[in-house]
Amino acid sequence: MPCPTHRGAKTVTQSADRPVDLIETALFNNRLWATEIQKNNPEFFEKLSQIHAPSLLWIGCSDARVPANQLIGMQPGEVFVHRNIANQIQAADMNCLSVIEFAITVLRVQHILVVGHSDCGGVKAAIRGDAPELVSHWVRPIQRLFIKHMATLKELPFHEQVNALVRLNVIEQTKQLAQIASIRSAWQKGQQLTIHGWIYTLQSGLLEEVTHINNIAAADTILLKAE
Ligand code: CO
Repeated sequence: MPCPTHRGAKTVTQSADRPVDLIETALFNNRLWATEIQKNNPEFFEKLSQIHAPSLLWIGCSDARVPANQLIGMQPGEVFVHRNIANQIQAADMNCLSVIEFAITVLRVQHILVVGHSDCGGVKAAIRGDAPELVSHWVRPIQRLFIKHMATLKELPFHEQVNALVRLNVIEQTKQLAQIASIRSAWQKGQQLTIHGWIYTLQSGLLEEVTHINNIAAADTILLKAE
């Protein structure tokens, strides 16, 4: 069925082609995508439906500009994904903790990526203190991190403050991960597992590793130093 807003492009996402009905267009694009894959690889979906065995867990920001699979060239089935505002791991967040536990004990992923990004709205909100109530509560740990590093951060212009805090937040989240029971238990059992702290730069499209932790001794050294 031809889409009324489809004008010959593969997908209709450009602003000039702003769809009249976004939902109809999304469904149309989906059929186009599935048909294209079926054509090139007739067994793709059948195979994908039979096994779920990603090697990576991506914990990133909900920001629409930072889509996990696309940035690292991975296909459906290759990345287990959890996203929230400002890519945080909080000790009382059952959602995130369940994802991590499942990823380690059932999927047996070998890498956990915590991915922050430049110009993060959640980090800006933590600095400005201007978010709606729930978001404000959610980003409070980042606000505390800002206050902790206030002496050096306050010297910077706002834009640089944000990106410096994005970096500090990613490092902090790797430390949070290093304290999680399911991760420590995996290390104690000799399971191969590395936590990576990454930053994605919106302006260049590039990812950079800022830190990694791959065993319990390294984790404890980092955590002791942080105290
Ligand atoms: Co963000």
